[in-house]
Amino acid sequence: MTRPDYAEKIPNNVGLAQDRRLQRALESWQPDFLSWWETMGPTLPTRDVYLRTAIDVRGDGWAQFGHVPMIDYRWGIFLADRDPGRRIAFGAHQGEPAWQKVPGEYRAELQRLIVIQGDTEPASVEQQRNLGATAPSLYDLRNLFQVNVEEGRHLWAMVYLLHAYFGRDGREEAAALLHRNSGSADSPRILGAFNEETPDWLSFYMFTYFTDRDGKYQLGTLKESAFDPLSRTAEFMLKEEAHHMMVGTTGVDRVVERTAQVMVASDTDDIAAHGAIPLDIIQKYLNFHYSVSLDLFGGETSTNVANYYTAGLKGRWLEERRSGDHRLADDSIMVDALLDGQPGQVEVPALTGLNTDLRREYMADCAGGVKRWNRILEQAGLPQRLSLPHVAFNRQVGAFAPVEVSPAGERLPAAGWAARKGQWLPTDTDRAFVRSLMQPVYQRGKIAAWVAPPRNGINGQPFDYDYVHLA
Ligand SMILES: [Fe+2]
Ligand SMILES: [Fe+2]
Repeated sequence: MTRPDYAEKIPNNVGLAQDRRLQRALESWQPDFLSWWETMGPTLPTRDVYLRTAIDVRGDGWAQFGHVPMIDYRWGIFLADRDPGRRIAFGAHQGEPAWQKVPGEYRAELQRLIVIQGDTEPASVEQQRNLGATAPSLYDLRNLFQVNVEEGRHLWAMVYLLHAYFGRDGREEAAALLHRNSGSADSPRILGAFNEETPDWLSFYMFTYFTDRDGKYQLGTLKESAFDPLSRTAEFMLKEEAHHMMVGTTGVDRVVERTAQVMVASDTDDIAAHGAIPLDIIQKYLNFHYSVSLDLFGGETSTNVANYYTAGLKGRWLEERRSGDHRLADDSIMVDALLDGQPGQVEVPALTGLNTDLRREYMADCAGGVKRWNRILEQAGLPQRLSLPHVAFNRQVGAFAPVEVSPAGERLPAAGWAARKGQWLPTDTDRAFVRSLMQPVYQRGKIAAWVAPPRNGINGQPFDYDYVHLA
């Protein structure tokens, strides 16, 4: 792979200059992207931001850091290095060479998978666009913008695939990615969680912990794809995604840390009057973001996904590292189901249960964050603990959508749910309280009272570094 040339209009490592038609097509999409960024991207005016720019796909030197005006940030196209010997790891084509072109028989399905992934990238930028106005520190502000520009680059990565491999249909889909908008009544984003607002920074940390983590698992399945350009694109996106999740993990760490400090110092759980976020509100936000993210994995069983797997379009999490059969013809799996109206499980063929398999990998990963946050509470000497709600709690997709279930997994009648819902999910009052804490702190080295400072800065810089120069 070549190193990108940042003097080019569209920095890339895919040899774009050698393909004039493709280059022209992307250059004609670029003004639409820029006007989308201007109208739907971050609203806070800045002079420049200390951003990471990807310059390579390999090793330690893959990114460089520097103050960049946001509008000059270069959204590049990057594919991880090609492994010329790569073979398909699973499904009916297992053992055959990975595809460098789209097979006609799978064209529609592959395009659909790319569009669904692509749609989430600009959606999150739209969801987060107003957060700059209430950033708790310049460090946090910089992280927000870093996440935003990289989601913008992920959109570029998907649009490149659509333009390069899917002809006219692909170009139309690329245009549509900029016309759907998060929360729009007429043309919303494809997936539910991406139409929810991200109105405050606790939501942002929860989103980057739980929803970007969904992205990690979806990209993980695409990285296994027999369609090699998609696999290589997803591989590089995963590298950037790790930072987004770090922002979420340490963001929630810092909220919990501050909450614990104030609880200890004031010797009460009711710390709202002390300007910090009560633990029960943190738990409600966690319940909300976890449950809407579980919905992103789709129904417990899916014949579409079984077909995608058999065709080689998307694999399981860490497919190549899994032992055993990679066709799943005779395996079975227990999936969540309603049994006599109660949350339970039934056995289904492994192929149709692939959504469940992926969701379980994700759930196990999410438990890691809760463990960390509980360690912070424990170290503060507090007896309270956070927890993940039951898989059936607050679900709008799949087997549990028709029923109401408590965080402990107990089925509730509609009236019982209505009466107790406010104990488990953020109420308007909770959200208004959290919003009331969201006063911007833009002085170097200063931080809002509801969150602890980070342990480390970015790229070895101290917390009080001038991460962002406001306009
Ligand atoms: Fe992304
Ligand atoms: Fe992300």
